[in-house]
Amino acid sequence: MAKHTIAYLPGDGIGTDVLDAARLVLDSLEFDAEYIPGDIGWEFWCDEGNPLPQRTVDMLKTTDCCLFGAITSKPSEEAARELAPHLWQQGFVYFSPIVKLRQLLNLHTNMRPCKAFKGNPLNYRDDIDIVVFRENTEGLYSGVELHPVPREVMRFLADYQPKARRFIHERPDDLAITVRVYTRKACRSIVMQAFEYAKKHNRASVTVVEKPNVLRETGGLLLSEARKVAEQFPDVNLWETNIDAMCMWLVKNPQIYSVLCAGNMFGDIISDLSAQLVGGLGFASSANIGDDYALFEPTHGSAPKYTGMNKVNPMAALLSAKLMLEYLNELEKAEILENAVARVIAEGRVRTYDMGGSASTTEMAEEVAKYCR
Ligand code: NAI
Ligand code: MG
Repeated sequence: MAKHTIAYLPGDGIGTDVLDAARLVLDSLEFDAEYIPGDIGWEFWCDEGNPLPQRTVDMLKTTDCCLFGAITSKPSEEAARELAPHLWQQGFVYFSPIVKLRQLLNLHTNMRPCKAFKGNPLNYRDDIDIVVFRENTEGLYSGVELHPVPREVMRFLADYQPKARRFIHERPDDLAITVRVYTRKACRSIVMQAFEYAKKHNRASVTVVEKPNVLRETGGLLLSEARKVAEQFPDVNLWETNIDAMCMWLVKNPQIYSVLCAGNMFGDIISDLSAQLVGGLGFASSANIGDDYALFEPTHGSAPKYTGMNKVNPMAALLSAKLMLEYLNELEKAEILENAVARVIAEGRVRTYDMGGSASTTEMAEEVAKYCR
């Protein structure tokens, strides 16, 4: 029996190309795993009315962790039009399977390293080394939303928060609300993980990115938990910044930041910004981590225009595989893989189109694999 059991979900579009690339490299590392393929994505929405079939969820539960490619996601009306005719009018509603997976498996932590590899022509600067910790299941993305907003809901809110009074005479259909839900538990957990990571990797600071001067209750809760947690880590500095200023600072002085920590939406924003500073989607890897399961994925989507062309940059997927190796405590293999990636970038002989080259996805992966053997 193999040492590790991995759920293997390529999904849509370039998801297949980049996971093939990851497999090629993992095999060259002699990573001892059984990969169990699973159905997910657009095809299963169209044919079955469910982009995340129950059989896939059941399969995931038998594995140690998941390697995921990308999915195609479309707005509900467009999705409804592409549903197979025999499924029309049966109440099927499209949902994003990756968002669903994060919630279903309680993958509360999203971790995204953004490191400038030497020699990458896409680097904004060569001395950037940021790791983002983003809360992954709550905040403005909790899905607690209403439109229209029934009058009694607004009146009820006004009983507790007088600032809601000015909205109670609006027509329900002219009002929409999205609730930003933070739990103390999740705030504490995301900050704790950011600090533990900083301590383990000898990083000097954790920057909590919020907006507590305006979003007083939610932002305030995250910040107060951060201050409490920080007391346990005397060797790591807690820096506090506002999201808007942080966007400016990340463009002005990205090299001074180390570990960033934020709620769901602000984390989403700063992680895309940080990723772009070190080469963009072709390099952006991520780990979605829960208490007893984790899913690793490049942050890019399915890039439909490149489907089947074997053209996109596999580095994001390879670096996601590296995060998976770390999670599985295959630390030596993880290090070899990252060094191989760094070497291929530094040598610059094999480059995909986004880096100004003409190599294919497979050629780039083979070049990395060469240094993994
Ligand atoms: P995308 O990330 O798929 O691609 C945007 C553009 O970025 C591409 O056209 C390409 O020029 C570039 N790009 C992406 N990955 C690259 C790589 N590995 N190497 C080089 N260049 C790369 O985002 P887009 O076009 O907004 O969305 C396409 C589909 O993917 C949509 O259906 C969207 O909903 C879905 N999506 C899925 C995600 C996921 O599976 N987690 C995340 C983001 C989008
Ligand atoms: Mg995003």
